Amino acid sequence: MRRFFRAERRDIELCFGDMLTELLRGTQMRMSGRFIQHGDTSVLLHSVAVAYYSYKLSRRLRLTGDRRALIRGALLHDYFLYDWHQYNNEYGLHGFSHPATALRNARRDTNVSPLEADIISRHMFPLTLTPPKSREGWVICLVDKICSVYETFNRGIYPELRSYLNRCRLMTSQRTLGAAA
Ligand SMILES: [Fe+2]
Ligand SMILES: [Fe+2]
Repeated sequence: MRRFFRAERRDIELCFGDMLTELLRGTQMRMSGRFIQHGDTSVLLHSVAVAYYSYKLSRRLRLTGDRRALIRGALLHDYFLYDWHQYNNEYGLHGFSHPATALRNARRDTNVSPLEADIISRHMFPLTLTPPKSREGWVICLVDKICSVYETFNRGIYPELRSYLNRCRLMTSQRTLGAAA
């Protein structure tokens, strides 16, 4: 299982291009790093992993499509920005409500294409009853579930993605500091 989840540096860069740094700079995505998704994996790292393995699976299956929407949709699919382990009346039952919350937050903070909206709002199918309309949406729906199970039963995972994410975080915070100076 760990072998399957090994990530290559060159592939990671090909996968994300500037998309992750763009979102770290232009949205509140950095905040997702403070909340745990499963095990010891943060919501931010989980989203990066879902994006990367969705990209890998699409390439493996030779699926052509909108790569930008695939990656951005995956990065934003859990952009709900709260700790889902704490019960909160405001949002209702997390499993059902968070795709709509993530989409609302994403639309507030960045431009969301119709395909990205489909990916974000329907990634919890079949828990939420409406299936994705797009191939990209189906890939993310599946990879999200695989990553969630892997994260629940393992600790200290995705080391390559973790260090790539840390580099991007550092780079974007330095740029922000530079811009403010
Ligand atoms: Fe989710
Ligand atoms: Fe997820």
